Amino acid sequence: MLPIDLSGRIAVITGATGQLGRVMTRTLARAGADVAVCYHTNRGKASELVAEFEAMGVRALMIQADVTDWDAVRRLRDTIAEKLGHPDIIVNNAVIQYRWTSVLEQPSEDFESQFRSSVLHNVHMTKAFVPAMIEKGWGRVIGINTECAMQCWPNQAAYAAGKRGMDGVLRVLAREVGPHGITVNQVAPGWTLSENVRETGSEEEARYRKNIPLRRRGTDQEIANAVAFLASDLASYITGAYVPVCGGNVMPAI
Ligand SMILES: NC(=O)c1ccc[n+]([C@@H]2O[C@H](COP(=O)([O-])OP(=O)(O)OC[C@H]3O[C@@H](n4cnc5c(N)ncnc54)[C@H](OP(=O)(O)O)[C@@H]3O)[C@@H](O)[C@H]2O)c1
Repeated sequence: MLPIDLSGRIAVITGATGQLGRVMTRTLARAGADVAVCYHTNRGKASELVAEFEAMGVRALMIQADVTDWDAVRRLRDTIAEKLGHPDIIVNNAVIQYRWTSVLEQPSEDFESQFRSSVLHNVHMTKAFVPAMIEKGWGRVIGINTECAMQCWPNQAAYAAGKRGMDGVLRVLAREVGPHGITVNQVAPGWTLSENVRETGSEEEARYRKNIPLRRRGTDQEIANAVAFLASDLASYITGAYVPVCGGNVMPAI
């Protein structure tokens, strides 16, 4: 058997309380990592997750932070370092949700919020956590992107702009920190089934599935599996990659 073994590793997951983040965090914990469960407003979910992970025998810490705020991310780093140690794995997953509409209708503030939660979030997490990875000579930076960044469909300009900006930051970072044994990759989900969004049976969903080579929507667990793989030693020679986990719905060339 070829296991994904993250025992002895410490992972930080932003947006750990969210639909996909909770499954990513659970999957890293199941692989043996100690986990920092980062939340923004959903304290109840964070404490439920920590209780679940502690019962599995891993160390888990719930911690509040606004990832768009550098001082908050610095405090996040200091608290995690004190209580768990310096993280080996960061998963930049949090996102600010907003109403999607056309460029003409979308308030400029939504473009700013997407810049903050996609680009600055990744910059802050890098500045906070990568220096300790450099000292260790090992690290994993995993950003959660989206198939939408490649599709550029109508009404998705703010989201696509933020996620494309994040892609730029992380590909450059991959080149900069590769010599230190740190890989930097992105997982790009499609429209994913998760706890509060199982099959809807809508016409929109039927249309979406019809165009996917695998003819179905992916699940939260399938996204988390890609994150766990990239976090592990099995992915030791993969860096700078944008990995679509969307049943082939987008197939970007370099
Ligand atoms: N779900 C999909 O189908 C899908 C498809 C493609 C890509 N994605 C990507 O996957 C990631 C997760 O998406 P999701 O659908 O699971 O999102 P979600 O359920 O809406 O969760 C969003 C998470 O982000 C956190 N958050 C929001 N603003 C924050 C801030 N300022 N500081 C810190 N944390 C903040 C929230 O924390 P609290 O709940 O604690 O407030 C929550 O945990 C995102 O990067 C998204 O772009 C998702």
